[in-house]
Amino acid sequence: MTDVTQEGMPAVPERRNFYGRVHGKTLRASQKQYLAEDLGKVRLAGITVEENPGRSPIDPVALFGERPLWLEVGFGGGEHLVHMAARYPRIGIIGCEPFVNGVAMLLGKIRAAGVDNLAIHPGDVRDLFDVLPDASVAKAFLNYPDPWPKARHHRRRFVTPGYLVALARVMAPGAEFRVATDIPDYVRQTLEEVPKAGFDIVAQAGAGGAWEDWLSTRYEQKALREGRAPHYLTFRRKG
Ligand SMILES: C[S@@+](CC[C@H](N)C(=O)[O-])C[C@H]1O[C@@H](n2cnc3c(N)ncnc32)[C@H](O)[C@@H]1O
Repeated sequence: MTDVTQEGMPAVPERRNFYGRVHGKTLRASQKQYLAEDLGKVRLAGITVEENPGRSPIDPVALFGERPLWLEVGFGGGEHLVHMAARYPRIGIIGCEPFVNGVAMLLGKIRAAGVDNLAIHPGDVRDLFDVLPDASVAKAFLNYPDPWPKARHHRRRFVTPGYLVALARVMAPGAEFRVATDIPDYVRQTLEEVPKAGFDIVAQAGAGGAWEDWLSTRYEQKALREGRAPHYLTFRRKG
């Protein structure tokens, strides 16, 4: 298996099942240019199995100094990720997203915003979980995760122990974990599973009750157009 694909994206590791899309519409010329010119500047090294077969922990201090480290899982087009980086210049934020079209969109937004406190793993968040030190993440965001509506696919959801145990390990005691979703059954599973992984529920709200610093994402806009209501859940890592 090769380390990176043509666009400079890491190949999805064979040892894990990844069911989402990694390619969408043909990339525009400008997006290809962003990938060629900018991905290398923001892409984290030492995350993939090929680059780091021993799975040695990465050093967040080497990345962002002593700034608090935040994490966004599945950033889609990157609007929330860039918004948070711009709004909070004294934190460092890592985003993960295996969908190449999303990564290309993010790179365009980074150029426009000029933020420098942002790094990405253009791949599966589980690769990052392997190599993040214990208790290194001060805040995490899961915005509109893939809903996997069929009951037999619920085990693919992020809010299952395979993801949550790893998330809990890397989050610092007291760290905040935010989940936004438009799927009532996803709310149910989140409220069942996240506390079992070592988090307390702090707040839950519906439409109009988003966090004060929230930026509505592409998927939220789609949900609203299609008549589905947002839910905003806030958890805190025990400790
Ligand atoms: C429904 S989209 C939402 C995107 C964005 N957060 C938003 O609100 O517009 C879910 C995203 O999660 C990403 N995703 C799914 N599994 C992932 C994983 N294991 N690691 C990182 N991202 C993942 C998908 O590629 C997809 O872009």
